[in-house]
Amino acid sequence: MNFANQLVQWYHENKRDLPWRHTTNAYIIWLSEVILQQTRVEQGLPYFNRFLAAYPTVTDFANASEDEILKLWQGLGYYSRGRNMLKTARLVRDEYKGNFPDTYQELIKLKGIGEYTAAAISSFAANEARAVVDGNVYRVLARYFGIDEPINSTKGKKLFQQLADEVLNKEQPGLHNQAMMEFGAVICKPKNPACGICMVRLGCEAFKTNATTQLPVKLKTVKVKERFFNYFLITDGNRILMNKRTGNDIWTGLYDLPLVETPTLPETHEIVTLPQVKAYFGPKLEIEEAFGLQKHVLTHQRLIVRFVKVKSKPVLFEPDWFYVDIEKLHKLALPKIIFKFLTNFFKFENNSLFSN
Ligand code: ADE
Repeated sequence: MNFANQLVQWYHENKRDLPWRHTTNAYIIWLSEVILQQTRVEQGLPYFNRFLAAYPTVTDFANASEDEILKLWQGLGYYSRGRNMLKTARLVRDEYKGNFPDTYQELIKLKGIGEYTAAAISSFAANEARAVVDGNVYRVLARYFGIDEPINSTKGKKLFQQLADEVLNKEQPGLHNQAMMEFGAVICKPKNPACGICMVRLGCEAFKTNATTQLPVKLKTVKVKERFFNYFLITDGNRILMNKRTGNDIWTGLYDLPLVETPTLPETHEIVTLPQVKAYFGPKLEIEEAFGLQKHVLTHQRLIVRFVKVKSKPVLFEPDWFYVDIEKLHKLALPKIIFKFLTNFFKFENNSLFSN
């Protein structure tokens, strides 16, 4: 039996029962795939369930506001994905009469849908013979076939796509794709792969040459940039000053606190001397409490974040600042680090900032 058939057989016997595997509805599959690009199955499941309960059809999704979508997306990170989903849903409502496309050619035209997602949806929803290549698939192929070409080089990407197409079971592409991803997630894991119970290990180059930890190879490309965020907590216990993030930076469309970004980390006593701080608060800023530094790692950035509670009220307001009742904070989509800080500070019950 060849590699692909062995995988499908393994899948039949071992697959997890996941809700998006019981449907050929392209909208539902799209929802699950975009969420699963962002996080693992266990963490993605509750998000998937919340989204589907709130928006059973793509038209329901399209009719939501950006605030509502970002609120449900809160905690998944990479918020432009959530915003792109809304654009796509609206396009499907307006241009496709609410029928989510299920062919690769149509899907690839949509915002936020790349080769992976188009292949996933078209193969799962319409059984189109398109091989998916995601992180799981790179890993499985690199190890089984012993390929040390970097998965993120131009040559590597082409090579792995070709190989995935070759291996694809053309009669059952949907099943094959699910099996590849499931096998990557459950057996051929990034760390500590379960080679001991793997049914294809005798054919696996990496297993035979003891190279599972070296494969796949990935080129290190972008440098991680460090940024220093000084956040100001301004509250009288009833209301709090918030900021809506606009522009092209991280967390667009989400809500954080008044912020002064600095090129290095100031000491607490230096904060009052920063020109931007003086502009916001005048010359006599009183810091009531400074909280411990927090680090927050994003894909290409490392944030060093400090929160200070100030007594003074600003004398200069940014157009995107506004006061909100603390009782209504739960309606706003917050970046994780802001969510955690405010939950701790106001001693909200765990998760109460999560629900609408
Ligand atoms: N990761 C990405 N897509 C997936 C799927 N359909 N099932 C399980 N894990 C996945």
